[in-house]
Amino acid sequence: MIKTITCIGAGYVGGPTMAVMALKNPGIKFHIVDINQARIDAWMSDDLPIYEPGLDEVVKQTRGKNLFFSTDVAGAIKEGNMIFISVNTPTKKYGVGKGRAADLKFVELCARQIAQFAEEDKIVVEKSTLPVRTAQSIKKILSSTSNGHSFQVLSNPEFLAEGTAIDDLMKPDRVLIGGDQNEKGQKAISELVNVYSSWVPRENIITTNIWSSELSKLTANAFLAQRISSVNAISALCEATGADVEEVAYAIGTDSRIGPKFLKSSVGFGGSCFQKDILNLVYLCEFFGLHEVARYWEQVVSMNDYQKTRFASKIITTLFNTVSGKKIAFLGWAFKKDTNDTRESAAIYVADQLMNDEADISVYDPQVEEARMYKDMEELETRTMDRNKKQLSMTEDPYEACKDAHAIAVLTEWDEFKDLDWQRIYANMKKPAFLFDGRLILDRKALSDIGFEVYTIGKG
Ligand code: UDX
Ligand code: ADP
Repeated sequence: MIKTITCIGAGYVGGPTMAVMALKNPGIKFHIVDINQARIDAWMSDDLPIYEPGLDEVVKQTRGKNLFFSTDVAGAIKEGNMIFISVNTPTKKYGVGKGRAADLKFVELCARQIAQFAEEDKIVVEKSTLPVRTAQSIKKILSSTSNGHSFQVLSNPEFLAEGTAIDDLMKPDRVLIGGDQNEKGQKAISELVNVYSSWVPRENIITTNIWSSELSKLTANAFLAQRISSVNAISALCEATGADVEEVAYAIGTDSRIGPKFLKSSVGFGGSCFQKDILNLVYLCEFFGLHEVARYWEQVVSMNDYQKTRFASKIITTLFNTVSGKKIAFLGWAFKKDTNDTRESAAIYVADQLMNDEADISVYDPQVEEARMYKDMEELETRTMDRNKKQLSMTEDPYEACKDAHAIAVLTEWDEFKDLDWQRIYANMKKPAFLFDGRLILDRKALSDIGFEVYTIGKG
């Protein structure tokens, strides 16, 4: 019987997942630990570290009852019968596999800590997105460093999307659990099935072998990202031919074999998963000598890079081939609406390209903090922080961001952008006033009537 569940890593995945599990399993104690004290402090406060619709409510109902947060990793490992590893696995920035392979140092450290502190047998669950066969490494570390305890390793990939995490967790299309195909493995799987069964219908819980589970996660994200890259590829052709990408997407999406979802053309996909997982897949294929397969998937990422570059280039060429010294307003910095996450956001790359052309950028985003934005630019290592601060700023007022700007670029599809007073924005801009909608959220006709010169991705 599982009495206590521990989760290592209080991020975008670990936090919401455990909060919903706690809500649905009042009889089980959930303990989330993180090495980042500030993050834990925020989880304990009224100002949660991540913005996610509905999350506040779930945390309010569970925190202090059966959901606890701390930095006591050792203590939480000791008390948990089941331990979720939910730490970050960014793309490696150094050494072998640089720019492609997942950096597993945080996962490895967790495995070593579990082996060191465990005082009884445990079920260890991979929750982070990991390359296929990571479970093998975790198993090896656990079995070679533990003091005689046995560990079952399960793969339980998370399919939630940020911005809709709570809904996705409450009503998942499916839950996937992979484990060893022997008696102990099956027993561990059934323990985790029981935790989910308290709210997920049993037929929506899929159990597989561990490698299938790991590979399904990478494949699901690669397929989703591929749809976006496909529609974005067509958006360029629409602009060249006079077709309208929204009409094309609608027309093809009504084919039940294709379906309507994930066909929204944009300035490019971002987020912590898509690019990382595809690069992981590419790395894995190369490792196995499957070079053609590797090139096939790599193209999804190349098309995404092209879309971002194409958007920035469009701004520069439209503004008479130079943005030097011109103020460009950015509406949105997050990688999608309803999140404060900015990992791999298209805005970062578009800003970088415009700043290379000496533009001054003023950003408004309802949830992203200024420090986060500067950190994103710092991680690119394109220019000094001093330079970044001279050319890039953030304001808390969208009208201020757009004041005296030569152009506005919409980088995130926040709903509130539709309701701005566009007459007022137009009146306070340099003329001609350009507007580049990278998210297809604004009414092109209404804005043109006001006087804007509007460019919308995928519209000829
Ligand atoms: C994704 C997967 O959807 C989720 O199942 C997985 O667990 C983690 O990765 P997430 O990255 O949170 O989730 O967001 P998602 O909604 O998939 O969007 C990713 C990016 O694609 C965003 O930048 C979004 O704006 C973009 N996108 C999405 C499009 O450009 N067009 C679309 O039609 C859909
Ligand atoms: P994700 O989107 O995968 O949830 P995040 O970066 O939001 O990724 O969260 C991962 C969390 O894991 C971070 O808060 C980080 O501090 C934490 N973390 C990383 N390594 C460890 C570790 N060894 N022990 C505890 N927490 C860790």
